[in-house]
Amino acid sequence: MVKVLLVGEAAREHAIAEAICRSNYDPKLYAVMRLRNPGIDSLCKVTGGEVALGNSQDPKFVVETAKKFHVDFVFVGPEEPLFRGTADELEKEGIPCIGAKRGPAELEMSKAFMRRLMWKYRIPGRLRFKAFKNVEDAIAYIHEYAESVALKPARQAGGKGVKVIADLQAYLTSEKTHVKREHAKAIHEKYMKDYRDIDDRILIEERVEGPEYTLQAFTDGRTVKPLPLVQDNKNAFEMDIGPETGGMGSIAGKGMFLPFITEEEYRKSVEIVKNCVRAVEKETGEKYKGIVSGQMMCTASWGPTIIEFYSRLGDPEAVNVLPILKTDMIEICEAIIDEKLNKIKLKFENVATVVKCVAPKGYPEERNLAKGHPLHVDVDMVKKLGCKVYFASTDLQPDGKIISGGSRLVEIFGKGKTIPEASRKVEACIPYVWLEDGWGVFHRSDIGSEQLLEKRIEQANLIRAVYKYRARKGLIGKTIEWIPKKGKIIIET
Ligand code: GLY
Repeated sequence: MVKVLLVGEAAREHAIAEAICRSNYDPKLYAVMRLRNPGIDSLCKVTGGEVALGNSQDPKFVVETAKKFHVDFVFVGPEEPLFRGTADELEKEGIPCIGAKRGPAELEMSKAFMRRLMWKYRIPGRLRFKAFKNVEDAIAYIHEYAESVALKPARQAGGKGVKVIADLQAYLTSEKTHVKREHAKAIHEKYMKDYRDIDDRILIEERVEGPEYTLQAFTDGRTVKPLPLVQDNKNAFEMDIGPETGGMGSIAGKGMFLPFITEEEYRKSVEIVKNCVRAVEKETGEKYKGIVSGQMMCTASWGPTIIEFYSRLGDPEAVNVLPILKTDMIEICEAIIDEKLNKIKLKFENVATVVKCVAPKGYPEERNLAKGHPLHVDVDMVKKLGCKVYFASTDLQPDGKIISGGSRLVEIFGKGKTIPEASRKVEACIPYVWLEDGWGVFHRSDIGSEQLLEKRIEQANLIRAVYKYRARKGLIGKTIEWIPKKGKIIIET
């Protein structure tokens, strides 16, 4: 028997729990959760484990629970417990952890650290950036340089606070400067307000464009084993409009690639992630053990480029790949712990997958309104339609009612021969999810559709043509700027 403690309560953790419970090693699942996710709760019960409700972000609580249940190892789903040193505290007690220690997790926690690391180790995909420790210096910079930029909190702030501003027309520069200045202030006063664990406050990066995709991988610090590529869709509403969410749904093609990412681009993406894992060990002296993911973009200046790092699986991206993982999850975890991941062959069902999130009205901007509604999901009907339900921000009550927690409610997984086929299957399940008090829910019907896929392929082809041209001219990693009175200059990166 193998006892595993899972930390976290979202749909990603439900998918991790399910993968662990499929193991042939007689798993007994325990969980630390802030809300009682009904899916994880049921898997704990079925395997004879237990749930400890409490602060899953508090390393002390996780260590106490791991000791109480005498677990063999802990699997940390989300990033925040890693940033707070959960893996480090577990190690002090001799309990292995699937999840990076605080040092390597800084790749995700500090976007400034990640960019500095990429420059120091000359890793491809280096974007030009400046990190600021105070808002005044950031504003002075914004006033001095009229550029297209991405303004970001210097720390991972739950995926919030990023604004990308194109500053292309000279006659709009003063308006754009105003927007940038106000957003820099908002980052300082709102998004970074609660974080004192890094000195940098604001990150200003060059703006890049292109199709985004997520490369998720297991690593033991020596070997990096990638999972199939996934593309998440961040905007709340159809055709990529509306506020950014944690992700409204995601797609993955048959095999390891996406229809708009080539094998060469996939290989380059894997190489970038491997380089970063090696570099972070050199920098911190700590081996990276657990999950490493690159939120990638195919850009005109570099081809595959890292936009952000995750020290965890993506959510919903994890829900595309874990249900089709054929390799035993406990074997993978033990190989990570023993640094023998090179001996593992990852196998997946050869299918395309689509995940769609159903969210309560109010998400993502008015979460208080989205909270406290009773949820109905016809899990049997979803199963009958060939799909699966993964519970997200939901809280199972003692009377059996499921109450919304304010974020995404459920993620529905479907598979098929093609992405549109999987998408159609998931669409058929959406009417079986509703809130019993009549509060509205929404989802994106376009995710995985032929139309959206075509749009992604077109965008990728355009960007690819430019970076191939730049490669032929020896311009990869170089920026050409035109500056009044100075003329054209080439900036080497
Ligand atoms: N889907 C984006 C994330 O996991 O942060």
